[in-house]
Amino acid sequence: MCGITGYIGTEESKEILLRGLEKLEYRGYDSAGIAVGNKDGVHIYKEKGRVANLREAIDSDISAQIGIGHTRWATHGKPTRDNAHPHQSASKRFTLVHNGVIENYMMLKSNYLQDVHFQSDTDTEVIVQLLEKFTEQGMGTEEAFLKTLNLLDGSYAIALLDQESTDVIYVAKNKSPILIGVGNDFNVVASDAMAMIHVTDSYMELMDKEMVTVKKDSIIIKNLEGEKQDRATYKAEIHEGDIDKGIYPHFMLKEIDEQPLMIRKIIRSYQNENEQLSVKSDIISAMKEASRIYIIACGTSYHAGLVGKQFMESLADIPVEVHVASEFSYNMPLLSAKPLFLFISQSGETADSRTALVRVKEMGFTTITITNVPGSTLSREADYTMYLHAGPELAVASTKAYSAQLTVLAILADVASTSNGKSSGINLISELSIIANAMEVLCNSKTEIEKIATQYLSTTRNCFFIGRGIDYFVSLEGALKLKEISYIQAEGFAGGELKHGTIALIEEGTPVIALATQDKVNLSIRGNVKEVAARGANPCIISMEGLETDEDRFVLPKTHELLTPLISVITFQLLAYYAALHRGCDIDKPRNLAKSVTVE
Ligand code: M6R
Repeated sequence: MCGITGYIGTEESKEILLRGLEKLEYRGYDSAGIAVGNKDGVHIYKEKGRVANLREAIDSDISAQIGIGHTRWATHGKPTRDNAHPHQSASKRFTLVHNGVIENYMMLKSNYLQDVHFQSDTDTEVIVQLLEKFTEQGMGTEEAFLKTLNLLDGSYAIALLDQESTDVIYVAKNKSPILIGVGNDFNVVASDAMAMIHVTDSYMELMDKEMVTVKKDSIIIKNLEGEKQDRATYKAEIHEGDIDKGIYPHFMLKEIDEQPLMIRKIIRSYQNENEQLSVKSDIISAMKEASRIYIIACGTSYHAGLVGKQFMESLADIPVEVHVASEFSYNMPLLSAKPLFLFISQSGETADSRTALVRVKEMGFTTITITNVPGSTLSREADYTMYLHAGPELAVASTKAYSAQLTVLAILADVASTSNGKSSGINLISELSIIANAMEVLCNSKTEIEKIATQYLSTTRNCFFIGRGIDYFVSLEGALKLKEISYIQAEGFAGGELKHGTIALIEEGTPVIALATQDKVNLSIRGNVKEVAARGANPCIISMEGLETDEDRFVLPKTHELLTPLISVITFQLLAYYAALHRGCDIDKPRNLAKSVTVE
């Protein structure tokens, strides 16, 4: 949540900062702002809403070779212009942008800043006012910054300008991501490498509780005790073309369509020289030693974890529990004797998951991250990482990352099973190839799926998704997708559970989308459809070849029963897409959300 850019060098900073912010908008789009410095001082421009609004508000004649920028996802204070970053200290000497949450900001205000008039409702402003307070007491900027950082509880990525020395950007990090990009006669600051890939592909990671002074020709990293830290650079393997919509009207549609090709790429990425599926032997040994695997994740990644449990238990005979990260950290279940923790996160930056990872690491347990983003916090901090190879996912609604997560989880389960000397009973490469072909069929069925969206979802206020077994888990994901981008109140339910209360919500015409891809529950889910239809619901059955009946609205191509989530989800992704399109919603940037959720 919230994106940060910074530039110091010899070029005009404002365009570089704005281009970076445009690429960081997926982290929040409640407001955007930049501060640029020149011989006349620091100049702030900020606007409510998108970076496009900010662009229009900037003085096109302003010339400055240093600056910081911010795109906001509001936590403390409404998404207004006053609460937009950058924030300034009372005398306007210090200007700062922040991503994260300062948990003790009320205490800091009352202990140190009673006499300060605050301009915003944010927790952030306390940082810049504290800094000024300490410099007024005679400290230099760096000393005051370190003292301030040592007082903060919570998460922060900070970029700071000092009007009295406009040849330096101060940066700090704790729990929230921020990188330093290295250039020739310039350096940059960014929440992720993609944001500044138009100027450099060379980056330095920062660790928690570090502070940096960034000048155009030097980067000095210190810990919060003021001791210098060495840091190597790494090359970010991202291409600007990967983050382009191309011919598509929305990233979401592009990313849905990328899935068949992506599945083939993942298979190749996990094949060894004998063309067998293969996973790092350390990971497999950790799985063999474990008495139970705990999958920890949020949102769509949590839904992928629920399907992943089925893969692990049925292919590899390993017991698995799946937990929502935000609950797990503060309400930990009784753990098995030898637990192994598997974190699933597209971004690799999700704060809830990261908190859980830090906790279980402190307890001495082994951790694996499955993520799409090399170099992300969760990938760096886990003992082992498996990559999704899905390519950048930019739409806030996760689509291809979910399919990639299922594919990698299936591969992991399959390899764990064969390494135990038994067969998983499935030729996974061949079944995944069938899946990729079936995905293509679905991606070519957009006209039909759009008609279903028009028929059931154009005007409804609510909608239910039901399924049994593995179909239930996909129903949860279908409902999340629909509510997230079309704002229709949608809930996923186990088919048999509706009658225990929720069926009271069924009214004349309520759409109930029922998934029927599993032979053993085919008749029972159809029974549940009859129950809701008898109460006026408008049922839409999505079934699979071999199980279909005349009442079904859409029939999925036949695939292996265990892998059906990989294709049924595409129908749900497209239904959500077209429902949102017909309702005029902002598909790639739905309201109130952000792609990367870096606050707890
Ligand atoms: O990056 P992560 O996979 O950790 O993100 C977790 C959730 O925030 C994410 O899956 C979210 O639910 C999606 N936007 C849903 O489409």
